[in-house]
Amino acid sequence: MKKFALRPAALVLFASMVLAAISAAQGIHPGAVWLDNRGQQIQAHGGGILHWHGKYYWFGEDRTRTNDPDKRYVACYSSKDLARWKFCGQVLALSDPERLGPHWVLERPKVFHNPHTGKFVLYFHLDDARYKFARVGVAVSSRIDGHYSYVRSFRPLGQESRDIGQFIDDDGSAYLIFESRPTGGFFIARLSEDYLDVDKQVSFIHAPLEGGALVHYKGLYYVLGSHMTGWAPNPGVYATAPSLSGPWTEFKNVAPPEARTYQAQSTMLLKVVGSKQTTVIFMGDIWKPRTLWDSRYLWMPVEIGDGSFLLPRPQPWSLNMKSGVATIH
Ligand code: GAL
Repeated sequence: MKKFALRPAALVLFASMVLAAISAAQGIHPGAVWLDNRGQQIQAHGGGILHWHGKYYWFGEDRTRTNDPDKRYVACYSSKDLARWKFCGQVLALSDPERLGPHWVLERPKVFHNPHTGKFVLYFHLDDARYKFARVGVAVSSRIDGHYSYVRSFRPLGQESRDIGQFIDDDGSAYLIFESRPTGGFFIARLSEDYLDVDKQVSFIHAPLEGGALVHYKGLYYVLGSHMTGWAPNPGVYATAPSLSGPWTEFKNVAPPEARTYQAQSTMLLKVVGSKQTTVIFMGDIWKPRTLWDSRYLWMPVEIGDGSFLLPRPQPWSLNMKSGVATIH
C-alpha cells in the first residue's frame, strides 16, 4: 500500500484552513441560522442586549413553534464574544396579562438594570391582535436571567406606543424610544428613578418611523428607524443630533435604498468599546412572517463618524472583544 506524507508547506496550509474554518464558525454570519449552545436556533427576535458584569445578555421574542400558543415568551442568552450564545432560559412566559384576547402581542423586549433598586426591568410592546392597545408592558426580576414578574402596562407620556427601543447613555442614564402613530414620530423619554415609568420627554422626532434605535458615538447621537411596512423590509434611515434633545437632522438612508436594509429591520445599535477601537453594531431582524421562529438576524459593524452612518453589505465577520476591532472575513 502506498503511503502519503504531507509536506511541511501543505501541513501549514491545511492547519491555516482548519483555523480559518474554526474562526469563521465562531464569527457572526448575518442571515444564517444562528445556533445556541444546545444546537437550537436562537430565539431573540426584536431583541436587545444588556452588558452586565463582563457578559452580554441578549433578550428577545421567543417564537419557538412548540410554545404554548396562549402565552408569549421572552428568551435570554449570554455570551462573552457576541458570537457564541448560551441559552439562559425563557425568562418570561406570560399569559395574556390585560385580557387582550386571542393573538395578543408581546414584541421587542428590552432589559435595563436599575442601579438604585438593583432590579432588572423588562420593557416590551404589549398589544392586541389589531395593534390598538398600543402600550408598553413592564416586568421585573432580581436576577438578570429571570424569572421576570409582570408589573403593569401603560402609555409612556400618555402616548400610544408600539415599537420600542432602549438606549443607555455613556453616563448610565436609561431611555426608551417609542413610536407613536397619532403624532407621527419617535418619542425619546427618560426612565423614572425606579425604571417602572418614564418621567420626562427628552425629544420628539417628527418622522413616521418605527424600529427605533439609538447610539452615542464621538459626540453625536444617531437615531435609526425603518418605514412602516409591517414585517416587509424597507430602506432604513438615520438622523443625528449633538444632544439627545436635538436638533435632529433630516433622515438619510443607511444603505442603498434598493437593498431595503438587506432585508432587515433595526432593533438596536450596540456599542463595543475596545482598547483600540469602538465598534458600533447594527442589530436587525430579517423577519419571516409565516415562520417567525425561523426569522434571522443581521448584525454588522457599521461605518460611522462625523454625522455619517453606513450599513455595509452583510458578510461574515468577527469582533476582537479586547481591541474592539471588527474583521470582515
Ligand atoms: C413591524 C414591527 C414589528 C411587528 C410587525 C407586525 O413594523 O416593527 O415589531 O410589530 O410590524 O406587522
